[in-house]
Amino acid sequence: MTRIDVALAGRSYPIFIESGISAHAGMHIQGPGGDRPQVIVTDETVADLHLEKLRNGLNRAVETIILPPGEATKNWTQLETLVERLLSFGVERGDNIIAFGGGVIGDLTGFAAAILRRGCRFVQVPTTLLAQVDSSVGGKTAINSAAGKNLVGAFHQPSLVLIDPDFLATLPSRHLRAGYAEVVKYGLIGDADFFEWCDAHAAALLAGETDEQTHAIAASCRAKAAVVAADERETADMRALLNLGHTFGHALEAEGAYSDRLLHGEAVASGMALAFRYSARRGLCPAEDAGKVERHLQVHGLSTRIPDFAADPDRLIAHMRQDKKAVSGKVALILARGIGRAFVAHDVDLEDVRSFLSEEIAG
Ligand SMILES: NC(=O)c1ccc[n+]([C@@H]2O[C@H](COP(=O)([O-])OP(=O)(O)OC[C@H]3O[C@@H](n4cnc5c(N)ncnc54)[C@H](O)[C@@H]3O)[C@@H](O)[C@H]2O)c1
Ligand SMILES: [Zn+2]
Repeated sequence: MTRIDVALAGRSYPIFIESGISAHAGMHIQGPGGDRPQVIVTDETVADLHLEKLRNGLNRAVETIILPPGEATKNWTQLETLVERLLSFGVERGDNIIAFGGGVIGDLTGFAAAILRRGCRFVQVPTTLLAQVDSSVGGKTAINSAAGKNLVGAFHQPSLVLIDPDFLATLPSRHLRAGYAEVVKYGLIGDADFFEWCDAHAAALLAGETDEQTHAIAASCRAKAAVVAADERETADMRALLNLGHTFGHALEAEGAYSDRLLHGEAVASGMALAFRYSARRGLCPAEDAGKVERHLQVHGLSTRIPDFAADPDRLIAHMRQDKKAVSGKVALILARGIGRAFVAHDVDLEDVRSFLSEEIAG
């Protein structure tokens, strides 16, 4: 079993990663025993596929709350329903609330735990690759508002993250690939050796090989844990680096109305390729590295281009301006000096980005 600690003053917590670990989840999920309530929050899809396995792995009784799958579940109505149901089970601060699902369930349950009785314990048992390598670690929780995605939330760290790569066996391959974009992101940000590892092993990982998946999850969690420990609330540049590809990506997602047209990880893949090509265009990064990034993503089934439905540079710039709170036409963007050498470029001129996007679209 791999153990990675997220080192935070007074609130450190472990991430356990092992194929099959959910079969003995109860050994790892601590908290009050006896007849204190313990609640699993999940969605219908995950419940149908895997709930029985997790229930069997917990060594005592558990209540279950099953929500509809999909991004729309991260809303005020579901939050209210969830909080009221948790209260009806008599959940108190030290009891275990177990978020069992992808990033949607993790974000919603984490936020419910953050506000319930001013903060309850919660455990993440992520079941998508994206959630296993990114959203379950780091304590960002949120729901969406009519004004935009993730606008209402809190920093609330879990007390434990339990990752069983076996759950990925049922994940649709499109979601597996989208989650993989966040894996290779860690290599592109700060670890050229890990990028090389990805180049050699991504095919096996995407084909469902557990060893490769476990290795990639551990490397990703290690990288994210280090960043979160150094900059929990994104006050320095450190945690911002995790947003490589995300400013471009969010603009693409917004144009796709955050629908299945473009999954988050798919948008991030295009966004990372754009960040590298823009860096190369500015003479910051060797064109060879930008080419390598692009080829790697393409080979593994991820698009590196601006999709047709988003082919309007003015609209993309408008999203970027909003996303990044531009000050006098300048924004901070994550760019790269090469593979494994991302940095925060302050004062990027949006007019220059606009002409870059126009060229990309004309392509
Ligand atoms: N908190 C953070 O730091 C953070 C970081 C990145 C993303 N996010 C959030 O994460 C969300 C996206 O997460 P996601 O991609 O996991 O989406 P998701 O939770 O919607 O899961 C994707 C789909 O896969 C299904 N599913 C989950 N596990 C499965 C399994 N093992 N087998 C088969 N199907 C399975 C789900 O039911 C859902 O339909 C977004 O809301 C995003 O904002 C949060
Ligand atoms: Zn992301």
